[in-house]
Amino acid sequence: MRTMIIAGNWKMYKDVAETRDLITALKAAVPSVPAGVESIICPPFTSLALAGELLKGSAFQLGGQNMSQHDEGAYTGEVSGKMLKAVGCDAVILGHSERRQYYGETNELVNLKARKALALGLRPIICVGETLEEREKDITAQVITTQVKGVLSGLTPQDMAKVVIAYEPVWAIGTGKVASPAQAQEVHQLIRKQVAGQYDWALAEKLTIQYGGSVKPDNAAEILAQNDVDGALVGGACLKADSFAAIIKAARP
Ligand code: 13P
Repeated sequence: MRTMIIAGNWKMYKDVAETRDLITALKAAVPSVPAGVESIICPPFTSLALAGELLKGSAFQLGGQNMSQHDEGAYTGEVSGKMLKAVGCDAVILGHSERRQYYGETNELVNLKARKALALGLRPIICVGETLEEREKDITAQVITTQVKGVLSGLTPQDMAKVVIAYEPVWAIGTGKVASPAQAQEVHQLIRKQVAGQYDWALAEKLTIQYGGSVKPDNAAEILAQNDVDGALVGGACLKADSFAAIIKAARP
């Protein structure tokens, strides 16, 4: 059985005071998660230390939204994986389409970051997804296959036991357009098949593949019920305790 993971990507929302309020509300709304389900919240860097303190002993794990591929050094504006670990992070989102689109991140860079995260014991949540243009050109399968190959390059089977892949169709992010359950299932199945080709089926069957893109309380259950959908990476709907709690409740291991 695969672990179902519901993660909340806060993006560039919530200052420290707002973080305290949201986490307090989340802990009250979600005192525990069902066996086989995990939940990770990923606030901005400035809120991580506080979140790490507030989440101790709670049902939630903590994740960063990005990290450097370097250990340390003169890299102005960057944050290392070791720094994430030091404030209590268990996971880190890597290669989000907003990082790819606005900050030029490539599959090669995302791969370097994934290797570093794994070396530090952080669970990488690696994002892949096609743009609207790519979907309309009917090259989704090719784009996803290239991304999966690139971001997983050189990772060992042991590494893969910690990796999560998030399928986030770019056209469904923040747009209110959600992939249909069938569209999501089709790409998730393709990702699993690709991973099986690079490793083997036993490993691929254990891989958690999240869907992200306009997941809301009213569509979560249907998407999460798909065979190859093992969780969600939630943007907008994770910024309110009640809607994130409702999505967690929709998760079945
Ligand atoms: P939305 O849920 O706001 O569409 O964002 C999805 C996302 O990008 C999560 O990483």
